[in-house]
Amino acid sequence: MSEKKKYYITTPIYYPSEKLHIGNTYTTVAADAIARFKRLSGYDVMLLTGSDEHGQKIQRKAEEKGVTPKAYVDEIVSGIKDLWKMMNISYDKFIRTTDEYHEKSVQNIVQKLYEQGDVYKGAYEGWYCTPCESFWTETQLVDGKCPDCGRPVEMAKEEAYFFKTTKYADRLIKYIEDHPSFIQPESRKNEMLNNFLRPGLEDLCISRTTFDWGIRAPFDNKHVIYVWIDALLNYITALGYGSENDELFKKYWPCDVHLIGKDILRFHTIYWPIILMALGIELPKQVFGHGWLLVDGGKMSKSKGNVVDPVVLINEFGADPVRYYLLHEIPFGSDGVFNNEIFIKKVNSDLANDLGNLVSRTAAMVEKYFDGIIPGPSDAEPVDKELIKLALEAPKKVEKNIDNLKIPEALDEIWNLIRRSNKYIDETTPWILAKDESKKARLGTVLYNLLESLRIVSVLLSAFLPETSGKINKQLNIHITTWDSLKSFDGTKIGSKLEKGDVIFPRIDVDEKLEMLNKIREDQLKATQQASVQPIKDEITIDEFDKLDLRVVKVLACEPVKKSNKLLKLKIDLAGEERQVISGIAKYYKPEDLIGKYVVLVANLKPVKLRGEISQGMILAAATDDDSKLFAVTIPGQLPTGSQVR
Ligand code: MSP
Repeated sequence: MSEKKKYYITTPIYYPSEKLHIGNTYTTVAADAIARFKRLSGYDVMLLTGSDEHGQKIQRKAEEKGVTPKAYVDEIVSGIKDLWKMMNISYDKFIRTTDEYHEKSVQNIVQKLYEQGDVYKGAYEGWYCTPCESFWTETQLVDGKCPDCGRPVEMAKEEAYFFKTTKYADRLIKYIEDHPSFIQPESRKNEMLNNFLRPGLEDLCISRTTFDWGIRAPFDNKHVIYVWIDALLNYITALGYGSENDELFKKYWPCDVHLIGKDILRFHTIYWPIILMALGIELPKQVFGHGWLLVDGGKMSKSKGNVVDPVVLINEFGADPVRYYLLHEIPFGSDGVFNNEIFIKKVNSDLANDLGNLVSRTAAMVEKYFDGIIPGPSDAEPVDKELIKLALEAPKKVEKNIDNLKIPEALDEIWNLIRRSNKYIDETTPWILAKDESKKARLGTVLYNLLESLRIVSVLLSAFLPETSGKINKQLNIHITTWDSLKSFDGTKIGSKLEKGDVIFPRIDVDEKLEMLNKIREDQLKATQQASVQPIKDEITIDEFDKLDLRVVKVLACEPVKKSNKLLKLKIDLAGEERQVISGIAKYYKPEDLIGKYVVLVANLKPVKLRGEISQGMILAAATDDDSKLFAVTIPGQLPTGSQVR
């Protein structure tokens, strides 16, 4: 027997900093569907996932909770594993970056890079975003904040080790140009080349000394390895690279596809290939950066209280409806939305109506007209041939789409067959055939064709909706489920008995469930609001308050501050005195919205320079904690400017 072809697919390893939300599950569900499909179609598959457990962010979270970082991550990782079980993720290996073998291999690898002169000691001074564990240069910041997540950055200055990324940059540019499918989708490739590689890379800082929750640098014990280096290496340490037993590495590397979200593409298509080049290892065949799952038109975030909890959905509807929505409703590669109403309606239309009904009707007819004994075919009319042709073509079409990572399109092919089968029932009208004893053979043919078509559907679906596929197999007494069996239309066991079971997708009452999900959402929002209210500051006396001089002022003119998309320059009138105030409200107000408005000024605040412009006081505004909404405090009537606000 010839050896099976290998297929190695990875998901990102997740930060166990908090519970995963539905957006996080997207990559893993997609990777699972691809892996299952590859196994079905004859590959020897390795699906790797895991957790990315080191770094300052985790250390801080653990400190807040008063537990050790390891105790903190242990609990969350166990929750992640439970979630993958609930979602039927068929991973072959789960790597934790705190696993001893990983830590050892990472040390061996960085030691090698150090010894070969690719790592050198220097000093780092730059802006650091702790949530993203990323360093940024001044020019990369957007409005002084992290360009990836928009959160505040901190100045970090420390002795550090650097990796000579610059040495490999030209080789990488050439590689990307010569291998058009390396970075997918195409648009993301251009972004990497034009925004990062061609303008010139800087050497990458790969060690930190300001915290210690990480892997120690073997060549300098004061340093821990930058968490992204530690994390990226998981893709090879999981296979034993850098350890005594690298059999799996030899077997599965190079990776066929690293499936990741678009936000972490820079690390996977710039730093990761460069590390591999430095180690003399072949590059992965493809890095695919999928889009973002949005809620209410924006990112899911705890502070907005719009985080969709996959566990709630799975408990209420089952894993497969959630998998179906993620796999089918989000165009793979682009952003998509999660919406409760669309979700429920899709479950009703595609799963309950199209698929569920087809299974129930078919089983019910076999039971009613043949006492549950599966009949055999005896003739083939054009309508049968058309169905059979479509069914036999479906596996190849699904395979082609999966090979191109077109998951929704792969499901479309299966649904084409499902819908065609439903139409076939309408065309062949078995209930009329059943009335005429002389048409019994024809009736047998029709039901056999439906069963066989559903067998093909079920086998193909096993990659995407494994639980459903299992239920269909059980109800329709399907035993032959190999890839090869899809090449001919004869895998249904004639003469065996089927027993119609429960409906596989009961119809959902849209209003009732929507109300329930909305209620959960509202409760969650309330809890978030309560938890996120800043504590009231220490008491002050009236005399202390009196030190603040708050005045009503009128905005005379307003314009953006040059080279800043955050700041506005306001000319204001304060009892006949004209002042200039720089205010960070450009994101919320157009200059013309403010002109003529009466606002409140902290009039005795020491003047400061912002972006080279003098600011004589501060305009009062109310904002949400995450700055997603802001309103300047305005005076509804026309008080004389200079009036005191008390
Ligand atoms: N630990 C790093 C990955 C290291 S891989 C060597 C990390 N972890 S993460 O937990 O923050 O994110 C895991 C995955 O979830 C990433 O692929 C990220 O893009 C994805 N998503 C997070 N929110 C998402 C959505 N709202 N929608 C789709 N995917 C999103 O990054």
